[in-house]
Amino acid sequence: MQSEILVIGATGKTGKRVAQRLEARGLRVRHGTRRSKIPFDWEQPDTWGAALRDIEVAYVAYLPDLAAPSAHGVIAAFVKAAEDAGLRRVVLLSERNEARAQACEQLVKDSSMEWTILQPSWFAQNFSEGGFLEGVLSGEVSVPTSGAAEPFVDIEDLADVAVAALTEDGRTGQVYEVTGAELLTWDEAVAHIARITGRDVSFRACTAEEFGGMLIAVGIPEEDANFTATLVEQMLDGKNASTSDGVQRALGREPRSFVQFCQDAHAQGCWE
Ligand SMILES: NC(=O)c1ccc[n+]([C@@H]2O[C@H](COP(=O)([O-])OP(=O)(O)OC[C@H]3O[C@@H](n4cnc5c(N)ncnc54)[C@H](OP(=O)(O)O)[C@@H]3O)[C@@H](O)[C@H]2O)c1
Repeated sequence: MQSEILVIGATGKTGKRVAQRLEARGLRVRHGTRRSKIPFDWEQPDTWGAALRDIEVAYVAYLPDLAAPSAHGVIAAFVKAAEDAGLRRVVLLSERNEARAQACEQLVKDSSMEWTILQPSWFAQNFSEGGFLEGVLSGEVSVPTSGAAEPFVDIEDLADVAVAALTEDGRTGQVYEVTGAELLTWDEAVAHIARITGRDVSFRACTAEEFGGMLIAVGIPEEDANFTATLVEQMLDGKNASTSDGVQRALGREPRSFVQFCQDAHAQGCWE
C-alpha cells in the first residue's frame, strides 16, 4: 500500500486544500499540525520523528514564516530529521524575493531529497479567510504599501501546483513562482470585493508602525506584530510588483482571476 503523504499545516489555508485534493484522489494523508492525531509542532522537534515515520512524501508549510529569525535553524534540523526518516520528496511552501526564506530553501535544495519550492505572491484568500477578513467585514482594509501593485494568487491554484509536485514526476528541482495573472493595486483589489459583495469597504495605506499596532490590538504579541509589520512593508515595497509563470509552467493553464476568486468566496458566504 502506498504510504501516507504528510501535510504540515494541514488545517491551514493552503494545507487544507492540499489535503482535500490528495484525499479526493484516494491518497492517504497524515495531518501534521499541533492538534493532529500524530502531533507535529515546529517548536517541539521531539514531535517530528513520529510524524515523519513511514512517510515518503511531504508538503511543508513553516509557521510562522521562513523569514522569521528562528526559521533557518529549525529548517536545518528538520531537513536532517527528514533525511534520517527516509523522506524521499518534499514540497516546500516559501515566498517571493525574501533572502531569509531563500536561505531556508537552500537547505532543502542541498538535501538528498527530491525537492520542489513554491514561491507564491500574496494569497487572495487573505481577504476571505486570513488576516484581512476582519478588515473587509468592518469596512476598511489597511496595509503598509508604497502603492505597488500585487499579483494576488488564488490558493486553489497554489494547491493544484503543490499536489502536482507531490504526486507527479517532472517537478523535482523546480522553483515555481506562483502568482495570479494580473497586477492589481490594493485599492483595485478591495474595490472588486466591494463591487461583488455590495459591501461598503475601502482600502487605506498605513505605516508599518500603525499596522503593527493593529496586530497588537487583536492580541498578537508585540515582538511578532512588529516582525510581521516590517516583513509586510518589505514585501509590498514594489519588488514583487510583477506576475510570474509558475501556474502556467506547472499546470499548463492560466491562473484563476481575482474576480473569479471574489465571486467564489462571495458565493461560499465568506463575507456574510
Ligand atoms: N498569506 C500569504 O499571503 C502568504 C504568501 C506567501 C507565503 N505565505 C506562507 O504561507 C505559510 C502559511 O501557510 P498557510 O497560510 O497555509 O497557513 P495558515 O492558514 O496560517 O495555517 C497554519 C497551519 O499551520 C499549523 N501550525 C501553526 N503553528 C504550527 C506549529 N508551531 N507547528 C506545526 N503546525 C503549526 C496550524 O495548525 P495548528 O494551529 O493546529 O497547529 C495550521 O494547520 C507561511 O510560511 C507564510 O510565510 C503566506
